[in-house]
Amino acid sequence: MNIPEKKATGNFSEVAGQYCVRDITLAEEGRLLLDWAESRMPVLMGLREKYSKTKPFAGYKIAGCLHVTKETGVLIRTLAAAGAEVLWSGCNPLSTNDAVAAALAAEGIKMYAWHNNKEDFYWCIDRTIDAQPHLTLDDGCDLIDTVHERFADLAKNHIVGGSEETTTGVHRLRARAKAGKLYYPVYAVNDAETKWDFDNVYGTGQSSLDGIIRATSVLLAGKNFVTASHGHCGSGLANRAKAMGCNTIITEVSAIAALKGWLNGHEVMPMDQAAKVGDIFCTATGVKDVIVKRHFEVMKDGAIVCNTGHYDAEINIPDLASLSKSKRTIRPNCEEYTLKDGRRIYLIAEGRLVNLAAAEGHPSEVMDMSFANQFMAHLSLVERHKSGEKMPIEVMDIPADQDELVARTKLEMMGLHIDALTEEQKRYMNDYNAGT
Ligand code: ADE
Repeated sequence: MNIPEKKATGNFSEVAGQYCVRDITLAEEGRLLLDWAESRMPVLMGLREKYSKTKPFAGYKIAGCLHVTKETGVLIRTLAAAGAEVLWSGCNPLSTNDAVAAALAAEGIKMYAWHNNKEDFYWCIDRTIDAQPHLTLDDGCDLIDTVHERFADLAKNHIVGGSEETTTGVHRLRARAKAGKLYYPVYAVNDAETKWDFDNVYGTGQSSLDGIIRATSVLLAGKNFVTASHGHCGSGLANRAKAMGCNTIITEVSAIAALKGWLNGHEVMPMDQAAKVGDIFCTATGVKDVIVKRHFEVMKDGAIVCNTGHYDAEINIPDLASLSKSKRTIRPNCEEYTLKDGRRIYLIAEGRLVNLAAAEGHPSEVMDMSFANQFMAHLSLVERHKSGEKMPIEVMDIPADQDELVARTKLEMMGLHIDALTEEQKRYMNDYNAGT
């Protein structure tokens, strides 16, 4: 990995060592978005209220590499209110909201992110590393990878710990740990139940459909909707598409996930078959080359193709381009590829995360729990560091009591109440002798 140079020229708002955003005058617009998100993220706001008094992060620098959305802004403000110096870059070139980035930069966050920063993606990450952070907060592992590959000394001798937000990132992290190349402990926030059972399922389901609708405005009812994968994200999406009146099809490589999909009422078939009948395709697998040349070759005229997995490798776009005689942008975030045989295929958001590139990502209500987990993971890292504990260098699960606390707080904030086991019921549950 070579140290990247900034390539983009043109109009930016830039203060060396402070921020580089598209346009700082968008800050007021961004503040309104942040206010809106804050009103829907009570768990995180409760943490802000509590820890802005004690400032547990004072003296710690946190570098984050995660979609710059209004919800992320609420997390950033909360970390800063709890005493952290926060440096940030976006984890996808198309997901940064420039108004939110401007608002945060204007508040003193060291923000290096702008929409469509493809060529400067790693330049932005590098700027957050310049400040020698103590903690890293990732979505997809690009920051952790950069630190480990190019700043190994910092990773081994300075950074206290990190966290990872997404399934793909946790896979990469576990592969790194297995290879003996992980240099500091990292919490797998993705794997908390109050993250993946909600954010991945309900968040991805709604926001991906939102992106498809914003980019195409097509009627969903009656369409053959193909979801590649029936994991947390894919199942959420397929179920939401079904609720909108789609005929849902899932493709899978896992027999168990395929069975679950079938019992959820979706048709199950290989992509080779689904390619011929689908009207809308959305990949959610975390692996590459899910839709390739032979699939494009048999798709219907007018098929819409998109991806909601972390990386843009799931749809083989060079394959699509090689079959095409022309390409034009027909609507924002929607490119029409005309194939040599005259069929048209529509690709949303260049095959990048449809929910963040063509819409606003998951709704605030669901990110509330994910980001409460992020905040608490970092609090735990800092508290363990301050106590002098030598943490094991591994991928760590979020403790069950944290998960429970996040869920309970969320319920409480929504005014919902649940039952509690009586002492007698607890005894009964633990009695190996209680039978018929
Ligand atoms: N990932 C999915 N949705 C998101 C959002 N709204 N903010 C940050 N990261 C996200």
